[in-house]
Amino acid sequence: MANNQPTVNPADPETIPKFIDPLPIPPVAKPVFHDSYYEIEMREARHQFHSYFPLTTVWGYDGMVPGPTFDVAKDQLVKVKWINNLPLKHFLPVDHTLHGAIDSPEVRTVVHLHGANVDWESDGHPEAWFTKDYARTGAFFRRMVYEYTNHQQGTTLWYHDHAIGLTRLNVYAGLAGFYLIRDSLERRLKLPSGDYEIPLMIQDKSFKEDGSLFYPDQPPFPVSVNPSVVPGFLGNTIVVNGKVWPHLRVEPRKYRFRIVNASNRRGYTLSLSNQEAFTQIGTDGGLMASPVQLNSIRLEPAERADLIIDFSTMQGQTITLQNDDPSPHLSVVLQFRVDLPLRGEDRSQIPAQLYPAMELHEHTAHTVRDLTLSATTDEFGRPMLLLGERMWHDPATEKPAYDSVEIWNLVNLTGGPHPIHVHLVQFRILERRPFNIERFQKKGIIEYTGPAQPPKDYERGWKDTVRAEAGMVTKIIMHFKEHTGNYVWHCHFLEHEDHDMMRPLRVITDTHPVQDKHATHT
Ligand code: C2O
Ligand code: CU
Repeated sequence: MANNQPTVNPADPETIPKFIDPLPIPPVAKPVFHDSYYEIEMREARHQFHSYFPLTTVWGYDGMVPGPTFDVAKDQLVKVKWINNLPLKHFLPVDHTLHGAIDSPEVRTVVHLHGANVDWESDGHPEAWFTKDYARTGAFFRRMVYEYTNHQQGTTLWYHDHAIGLTRLNVYAGLAGFYLIRDSLERRLKLPSGDYEIPLMIQDKSFKEDGSLFYPDQPPFPVSVNPSVVPGFLGNTIVVNGKVWPHLRVEPRKYRFRIVNASNRRGYTLSLSNQEAFTQIGTDGGLMASPVQLNSIRLEPAERADLIIDFSTMQGQTITLQNDDPSPHLSVVLQFRVDLPLRGEDRSQIPAQLYPAMELHEHTAHTVRDLTLSATTDEFGRPMLLLGERMWHDPATEKPAYDSVEIWNLVNLTGGPHPIHVHLVQFRILERRPFNIERFQKKGIIEYTGPAQPPKDYERGWKDTVRAEAGMVTKIIMHFKEHTGNYVWHCHFLEHEDHDMMRPLRVITDTHPVQDKHATHT
C-alpha cells in the first residue's frame, strides 16, 4: 500500500488505482432527543476520498460526506435544526455576479429535502438561506428548525444544499445525504433489507495534486468575470458514498440498491459488466406498481432508482457497475465482488405487484402550461439558460391553484437535455414528442413532427425530476395538494440552476394568499 503512494496523483485518474477502498455506508442520523428531533451541523472536515490520497477538505453535514442517512417512517413528524458552522470564506471559487450572490455573504446555506411533500417554510427555498449562527438570513428565511411530516409514499429522498447562487459549490463541497422514508405497505413485501439494502450516492469529482477538490474558476472560453460560473462541471473520477471507485463484497443473493445521482452535471447510463439484467422496483417517488427488468438505466442529476441485483448466479465473479462513457475511467463506477459466503438462505422476494398503481389522467388537468427551456447570454456575454424566457428574479408566473392538477409541456429549445425538477410534488411523465423548433420560435406554437414516445420503462412511476429531451416536448402531470406557498422549479444541472435556470413556483388559494413579492434578500 505504502509503496504505491508516490505514484498516485489525485489529479490524474490514470494513476489512481481502482476498487481499493470498501464502499462506505453512511451512518444513520440519530435524534438528539425524543424520537424525532435532530440537530445536524454543517461543518468543514477532512475526508479520505481514497486510501492513497492525502486528506481532502470538505463541507459535510455533521462533517461527513455523504451526510448521515435519515431513516424515518411515513407520517412520522421529524424536526431538524440545520446548523451552519462553516467558515466564513468559501474554499471553492464563488462567482459574485450570479443571482443572489451579489452583495450577499459569501457562505450561505439552506437545506432542501429533495422530493419531499413539505410546507414551504421547511422546503429549503433558495432565498431561505442563513449564515453561521443565523447572523444573516435570506428574504424567505422563516425558521431554524425544519418540520418534515413525511406524508408521502415510502421512498429514497436526498437532502442537499440549495443556497441561491451557491448550490453547485456547496453540493460539490460535500453537502448531500440520504433521507429514506419507509411505509408499512413496503414493509410487508419481503424485499432485501438490513445488510442487503445499500444506498449508493454517485458523484463525479476532480482533485488537485495535493488531494484538494478541484472546481474550475473559469469556463473553457474567455470571460470578463473571475471567478466565473461554468456551463457545467464534469469531474474526472467517480465517487460513490464518498470514496473514489470503491468495491463492495457481496453474498450470492439478492441486494437492494437505492441509487441517487448527486452529481452536479453528469448523467449516468448504468449497467453490469457481465451483461446480466437487474430489476427496478422504484423511481424518485417510491415503489412502482410492478417490477421492471432492465439491462441499463439512465439517471440524470437528482434522479433516483431503486434496483435489485440478484448475485445468486454470479458466485465468484467480479462485476463492475459501469457507465456508458467513452473514457475508461468514467465508464467505471463501482466493483462488486461476489466472494462472501451466503450467511443464510435468501428469503427475500420481488413480488409481481409492488404498490397500488395510482395514475393521474390527462383529462383531469385544470391547467396546461407550455414552458420553454431556452438559451441566451447574460450581461457579461456568457451563455445562460432560462425557463419560460424569464430570469430567477422575474415575478412568479407558475402559480398553480391549491388542489389543482396541472400538465406542463417542457418545450426544450436548447441543444441538449436538462433534468427538470419541480419541488413539492411527485409527477408522472405522460410522453415526449419531437416538434418543430424554428416554427415554435417564430410563431410560438407547437407543431409536432413525430409520434409521441411513452416514458421509458424505468420512468413508469412517481418522478420529481425528468429529463427534458432536446428538440422534444416533455409532458408531465402533477397534483398540487396539501401545501400552498413559495416553492421553486429548476434544472438540476447545478451550474444551470445557479445561473438563472430556476423559477419560483407559488401554490396559491384565494383564502391563503402567499407573499407576493419576490425579493432578493434583507
Ligand atoms: Cu434537488 Cu431544488 O433540488
Ligand atoms: Cu439545464
